[in-house]
Amino acid sequence: MTKTIGLICGSLRKNSYNRMIAESLTTLDDSAQYRWIEISSLPFFNEDLEADGSPESVASFRAAIQDVDGVIIVSPEYNSGIPGVLKNALDWASRPRTSSVLNRKPVGLIGATPGGFGTAFAQMQTREVLEAMQVNVLPFQKMLISQVHEKVDSQQKVLTDESTKRYLQRYLQQFIHWIDQAPVPVLD
Ligand SMILES: Cc1cc2nc3c(=O)[nH]c(=O)nc-3n(C[C@H](O)[C@H](O)[C@H](O)COP(=O)(O)O)c2cc1C
Repeated sequence: MTKTIGLICGSLRKNSYNRMIAESLTTLDDSAQYRWIEISSLPFFNEDLEADGSPESVASFRAAIQDVDGVIIVSPEYNSGIPGVLKNALDWASRPRTSSVLNRKPVGLIGATPGGFGTAFAQMQTREVLEAMQVNVLPFQKMLISQVHEKVDSQQKVLTDESTKRYLQRYLQQFIHWIDQAPVPVLD
């Protein structure tokens, strides 16, 4: 069966490199379907909002995650860590704790930066956070894109670097294949 993959971008910037990389995924492997899962309209997480019944934007965000077979997060790194907007979205997705839509969901991590370390620190943190939420993160593989500004066309609208495209294509194929092998929920 064709898999549906949700794409979450950890940058809200209009000309985001990470959004551009996420967009390129949709053309690099057409064996899956792709859906954007937006995080820009989520409020700051606040347990009081939860107690009042979660806002509509949160309900649609959770439903969007529920509806896909796997999620790929494509995010920048800020100050060697997870961008606040992404952590906020993950906190909303983690609730209610016993029935989180991300529980055991297959998740892949990709990051791009003009810098030299490819968002390695942010990805390590994100992995740790997702582990605490009992999310299945694709093991072993890392998809780190450094010097991304040199890998796009002059308008910075599309990825042009062929080796990065192949690298992404391999990652995507591994992720799609792994979705069926990810451990199933343990009921307790
Ligand atoms: C607050 C802030 C902190 C940043 N910290 C890092 C960092 O720790 N590591 C890094 O590689 N780039 C860092 N950058 C640079 C980002 O990688 C760069 O702005 C990138 O283009 C953001 O991703 P986007 O293009 O998808 O919006 C930082 C940028 C900002 C605004």
